[in-house]
Amino acid sequence: MVNFDSVIDRHGTGSLKWDKYLNEDIIPMWVADMDFQAPQPVLTAIKDQVDFGILGYHLPPKELVELICTRLFDRYNWTVDPSWIILLPGLVCGINLACRSCGHQNSKIITLTPIYPPFLSAPSYSERKLITIPMQNINQHWTIPLDDLENNISEDCKLFLLCNPQNPTGRVFNKKELTEISSFCLKHDLVLCSDEIHCDLVYSGNKHIPIASLNTDIENRTITLMSPSKTFNIPGLGCSFAIIPNRSLRSQFCNIKKGIVPEINTLGYTAGLACYKHGASWVNELMEYLTKNRDFVIEKFNNEINGTSLNKIEATYLAWIDIRNLNIKNTYEFFYQHGVGISDGVNFGKSGFFRLNFGCPKSILEKGIDRVKYAIESI
Ligand SMILES: Cc1ncc(COP(=O)(O)O)c(C=O)c1O
Repeated sequence: MVNFDSVIDRHGTGSLKWDKYLNEDIIPMWVADMDFQAPQPVLTAIKDQVDFGILGYHLPPKELVELICTRLFDRYNWTVDPSWIILLPGLVCGINLACRSCGHQNSKIITLTPIYPPFLSAPSYSERKLITIPMQNINQHWTIPLDDLENNISEDCKLFLLCNPQNPTGRVFNKKELTEISSFCLKHDLVLCSDEIHCDLVYSGNKHIPIASLNTDIENRTITLMSPSKTFNIPGLGCSFAIIPNRSLRSQFCNIKKGIVPEINTLGYTAGLACYKHGASWVNELMEYLTKNRDFVIEKFNNEINGTSLNKIEATYLAWIDIRNLNIKNTYEFFYQHGVGISDGVNFGKSGFFRLNFGCPKSILEKGIDRVKYAIESI
């Protein structure tokens, strides 16, 4: 049994999450990084590599690519050819490469908001224009407004950026929704880039479907992005991959990457391989723990803390909390002044909300939520 209750002091370790607030009494509940050690077999594999002592250039392990293919078939009945897989040192890098691979200067990219902030910045980095379509909260359920998509699409739009499971709302889009997105992309001749980094962190009652696995038409125009980094809490090792079945799209993507994007580092390969080989039981235990944290968060915000609400969280360790009723001017600053470091909804394209990371031991979560509650009661 893994002890997810164990609190490990990360202060002063160079942690982005914790050392943002070094020497301050702030509980960090922002960046998507969990306060849990990676699975023991992964740590052992890294230690063995370090003990060997030579950390030279590494060939992409064939076994990693084979494991990815087997995993995609076993979980989703999706047959992926090893040649379709492009290993990458980060998912955000994959999003940016996708933007540069499609269209031309000033062509458009469409996405749904609220959304993980790099989706909002990548198009401009690539000199593309972004069309944002706000999702609708209908009966406490974030839904895709198909009419708005249709009404805002234009001929010079070449790429749909999708996040599924969705960060920050925690939605897992179902087969009907994915089919609708897929039809929309086919109708408007869009390439689809689907960021599925949270696909293993899905709660019971929901099922992740890689959109590219729906049918060969959509498979043929999709860049799927995945990684063991969120699942096994190794985001600092930068081990990710793209799956691009279409040969010409794949070669465009690879050409843009040439000479600029480095290979995955040696320890990243080692860890990624160990995750997919030996990490399954750890993830099962993690999901049991996260389910309890999730239920605790939902209960607190929907029933105990006045003026806040959140929808069902179907995946991820992130809660997207509605505080519009509270009329807080600067959400980040407000919670910071009360000792909690959250992610302000403004950065996801939606004000009046904040994102809270509950991937931490329950005792830290309780302390953080107590501070949030106290802050709100003090209004
Ligand atoms: C949806 C999504 N994509 C990508 C990333 C980051 O990926 P990477 O660190 O591999 O660039 C995150 C991290 O929070 C994420 O939530």
